[in-house]
Formats: sequence, C-alpha cells, structure tokens
Amino acid sequence: MSQEVYLTTPIYYVNDVPHIGHAYCTLATDTLVRYWRKKIGKENVFFLTGTDENSQKTVDAAKASGKDIPEYLDEMAGIWKSTWDQIGVSYDDFIRTTEKRHWGVVNEVFKKIHGKGDIYKDTYVGKYCTGCEAFIKDSELDEHGYCPHHKRPPQLLEEENYFFRLSKYQDELIKWYKNQPEQLMPDSRRNEVMSFIKSGLEDVSISRETAEFGIPLPIDPKHKVYVWFDALINYYSALQGTKYEHFWESAQHIIGKDIIRFHCVIWPAMLMSAGIELPKNVFAHGFFTIDGVKMSKSLGNVISPLELSEKYGNDALRVGLLSSFEFGNDGDFSLAHFDDFYRTKLSGGVGNLFNRVITLFHKLWDGKKPYIEKSQKSGEGWEERFSQALEKKRVKEALDVFFEMVDACNRHINDVQPWKLDPPDARASMNKLLTMLVTLTDMAEVILPESVVKMRKMLGDDEKVGDAEILFERK
Ligand code: MSP
Repeated sequence: MSQEVYLTTPIYYVNDVPHIGHAYCTLATDTLVRYWRKKIGKENVFFLTGTDENSQKTVDAAKASGKDIPEYLDEMAGIWKSTWDQIGVSYDDFIRTTEKRHWGVVNEVFKKIHGKGDIYKDTYVGKYCTGCEAFIKDSELDEHGYCPHHKRPPQLLEEENYFFRLSKYQDELIKWYKNQPEQLMPDSRRNEVMSFIKSGLEDVSISRETAEFGIPLPIDPKHKVYVWFDALINYYSALQGTKYEHFWESAQHIIGKDIIRFHCVIWPAMLMSAGIELPKNVFAHGFFTIDGVKMSKSLGNVISPLELSEKYGNDALRVGLLSSFEFGNDGDFSLAHFDDFYRTKLSGGVGNLFNRVITLFHKLWDGKKPYIEKSQKSGEGWEERFSQALEKKRVKEALDVFFEMVDACNRHINDVQPWKLDPPDARASMNKLLTMLVTLTDMAEVILPESVVKMRKMLGDDEKVGDAEILFERK
C-alpha cells in the first residue's frame, strides 16, 4: 500500500475568535500537509481541523453575547472556518463537535469503553477550572489558590460523575511509549509524559452532571459527556463512515504543549480500552509570547492573523510566524521583528532575487534561457536538507534552508556580477542561478503557496523566462 499521512490540528474552542497562537499551530500543520501532498500525492494525505463546541465556555460566551446557543455556535464556527480560508489553510475536512456524525461516534466509542468495564460511577469532590475545562489539583494552584493559566479561582464541585479507569492503563502506556520512542515528539515532551505516567495515574471523570450543554451520556442521559472525552474523539469520528476511514492508521496529531496530557495519556488509554488503533505520532509545539509577555485579552496584546495577512499577505503571515522559533520550542513574537523579517527576507530577499534574475535574463538575452537538464539539481543538498527537516517536523529549519539558499543566490549575483562576464561565463553563472530558482520555487510550493504562482510565471517556459514581477511589495 502506498504511504499515507493524516494530519490534525487541535479543534479550537469557539468562545473567542482565532489569534496568531491558533494560526501558528494551524499554519504549521498546513505547511507539513503541503509538503506531504507534494511528495506522496494529494490523494494520500488528509488534513483535519475544526471546532470544539460542547463546552461550558461556549455556553457562557453565548449567554454573554445575548444569542441562543445554536445561533452563537454557527456564527463562531463560521468565523473560525472563514479565517482559515482567508489565510490559506487547505484543510480537507472541518469538523464541529456539535455535528450528528460526531455524536454518533462518541456514543459508539463510549459504549466500547463501557463494555470493557472501564467506566464506573462515583462522587467527585474537587476543583474545576472552566478556562481549562479540567479538574485541577490543589498542588497545581498558584499562591492565591487560582488556576495558574487562567488566573481565576476554580469552582468547587461535588457531583456524581462517571469515571474512566485510566489507572488501569498505566503499565500498558509505559510499555507502548518505550517500544515506540518516535511516537511523541520532541524528546523533551516525551520525557515529561513518561515521568507523569510513572508518577501514578488516577482515574478521570468523564461526565458532568451539572453541564448545561453537550452530548448526553449514553448510559445515563442526565449526565453530559465531559468535553475533553468528546473532543478527543473528533480525530477518529471525522473519518468514520466516509471513504477516508483508512486514514486513521496514519494519524498524526499536532498540538500545543498545553494539551499534552489529554493527547498523550488520556487519549491513547481511551483508544486502548476501546480496542482502536493508536495514532502514529503526536507532536507538541511550544507557546509564544508577544514582546516577552503572554498574549491575553486583558493585556490587550492579542494579535489577529487577519490583521497581519491584510497588511503583509498570507505567505508573509505563514513564514513570519513559523520562522520566529523552532517548532517544538517556546519563543517570542514581535511586530517589529515580523516587519523586519518581511523587509529583509521576503521583500529584500526572495522578491529581490527573483526580480533581479529575471530582469537580467531580459537585459542580457532578451529573456531567452540557457538549456537546463530537467533532472538537474542545484547541488549542495538544499532540497535534501529541506525535505529532511520537514519529515522531522522541523519547520523553522526548513524555512532557514530556503532563506539560506536565497541569500546564497543574492551573494552570487553581487560577487560574480554576471553582466560583467564574457558571454559563456555569464551563461554558466545565470544557468546556475536559474537552476537554484527552480529549486526555490519547488520549496515555495510548500512554504509560500500564494507567491509560488507568480514565481512559476516568472520562470516562464522551456524557451524564455516570463516577465519580472513584484513578489512582496515594499511596505
Ligand atoms: N479545544 C481544545 C483542544 C481540543 S483538541 C481535541 C483547546 N482549544 S484552544 O482553542 O484553547 O486551542 C488550543 C491550541 O491553540 C493549543 O494547543 C495551541 O496549539 C494553540 N495556541 C493557543 N495559544 C497559543 C500561543 N500563545 N502560542 C502557540 N500556540 C497557541 O485547547
């Protein structure tokens, strides 16, 4: 069977609109998807994103907006979807957890886990943070007794809950991670998850008695399925009953480091219990701050991806975000740095290079091309380094290879000054540059999906180059 790749982003909460943190994760996944589509064919790749809607946060946000819940959900899911459309996210499917297709599969999975004897009823007494949509231990609270992420006191709850026997899967999980070291990336995250599992797993509550909205629990409809238990199943439910079911065997989840325990402890244990194959890989990326400060509404430093895309374009948004720091690490983003990146790397780098080379062809030989072997490579292993980086999900490293190559070409023009050479040497030099532009354009198909159209036009046909165009307007 041919190789297949199924990539997913987290499904996003709809209590707010997308910010660049969400766009970062989605664009990184989209970039990996584009790489694989190019390498193994569009039909062998499936890309899922969507919205997480059965949550208390949603109910609270709907109430605050004065709308009824379904109307609010439709409006917000529409905003998420159209934001991804506007910034060039090429998802194959967009799942909403309020859809019937999802509820049906959640019921089936729940029944399998119940049938295995892994669900029991008990009273839960504990603290719940609606921001995290999770129970939180006293030892995890900050010095004020608040949730350290949401800076709010959690709610004290005492209710009847159904529990999932997570503790039963502790040894199986350890064995599974030991046997498949590549399963969870980067390594630092894997170590974190391993020590968490080894420290002892407790059973987890998977229903809420007081939740106002959500999927009724199949065995006791007064209760609602806990939002995380329902949400994780989206990756599986989106494929069920479609011709894409077989993609499940190739599932790879891209997530932020904040939701690693749900994806790397609870989710695999749920699948083990239900007798469903486990995902092939989970990659957890880091978080970024804005000018060294956490992005938050109360600080007023939240940046919309649409704002950046409108000013600089979608390609700049994508590579500007993804080259801020290595995928997997934490890092910082600043508008000043982004603007500088645009001017030096995009407008002054790639844009300038393509413009100069094509203009030179017109000046020197009326646009006529030298003969280039179709299989000719640019040498120096650029393509290999680019591909290897993306196969390891080292997105920034791949972008660095691209920009290194752009710089090398611009340096070549400055140092060699082909227009001053004798015709045969000028031909050889320009031939080399054109070959490198062909490689850069192939890479741009993955990382600059909008500009690549102009780049291909500039490269022209077998005989002549096209007209020189501006790839990135000066701002
Ligand atoms: N709904 C859950 C996920 C369920 S998946 C089965 C959720 N949603 S969320 O809307 O809060 O978005 C989570 C994801 O957004 C994070 O995991 C992360 O990928 C991304 N980010 C949110 N803020 C971010 C930054 N400041 N920096 C980088 N990524 C960020 O959790």
